[in-house]
Amino acid sequence: MSPTSKTEEHKSPRRFGFSDIGDVTQRAADLGGADLLEWASEYFAGELCMACSMGPEDVVILDLLAERGLVDKVRVFTLDTGRLHQETYELMQALRQRYGVEFDVYTPDTDALQALMRAKGPNSFYDSVDNRRECCGVRKLEPLGRALSSAAAWITGIRKEQNVTRLGAANVELDLANGGLIKVNPLVEWTREDVWSRIRDRDIPYNVLHDRGFASIGCAPCTRAIGPGEDERAGRWWWETPEDKECGLHAHKD
Ligand code: ADX
Ligand code: SF4
Repeated sequence: MSPTSKTEEHKSPRRFGFSDIGDVTQRAADLGGADLLEWASEYFAGELCMACSMGPEDVVILDLLAERGLVDKVRVFTLDTGRLHQETYELMQALRQRYGVEFDVYTPDTDALQALMRAKGPNSFYDSVDNRRECCGVRKLEPLGRALSSAAAWITGIRKEQNVTRLGAANVELDLANGGLIKVNPLVEWTREDVWSRIRDRDIPYNVLHDRGFASIGCAPCTRAIGPGEDERAGRWWWETPEDKECGLHAHKD
């Protein structure tokens, strides 16, 4: 299957602005979970994709899609930064087998990556927030732009509870930072316990690193296990303050 096969009938995907979001919000009403996914797969038919990091929320979303027979209606993509854990790739393989997902894998631009490595070496992200954002820019944001270019809407696994930066998230949001798409967040109101109950009840494959103290998993050099009582994102970019802990994937542009 070619990378754009589920969106190719829309050469120019719809774009949205402030004047549209009221209507979209009204249509999505207070839907969440599988109901929101079902609505989105109809409203954005042929233009809907899902950003899958293989995190607990993402595996639950895949399971909700499968439960409603919607896996084929959504183009599932992942951003392979080149710095992921082996366990994350093992999970990708397991999800392919369980749900028949054909992941569209986006990798960093070779020239940009070579230039970054030449100028700053492989681990510059530990030196400053600016350097960390630069690395996320090359390894995640530029590929995200390519992944979203053929879509009108993207499904993500963000939850309000995850971080102070996400408290204002909603089930559908206008995403101006990525050029006017609609972001669909089916688990925005879910708690961490809601997510893990579903994983346990349905025996959904998950990243085995979670059994070794990892709560939220991103790139290997920027993720560590957390201790008892620590915040669930404490192991992500642990050397930074909570307000800085976003790679830009979920940035707001007002
Ligand atoms: S991050 O911005 O801090 O890295 P987080 O790990 O909380 O994000 O994941 C939130 C959501 O962002 C995921 O549920 C997924 O939709 C999307 N996402 C994060 N990382 C990736 C990735 N590498 N590939 C695809 N989607 C991703
Ligand atoms: Fe680079 Fe770390 Fe961002 Fe991954 S999480 S892209 S390694 S700075």
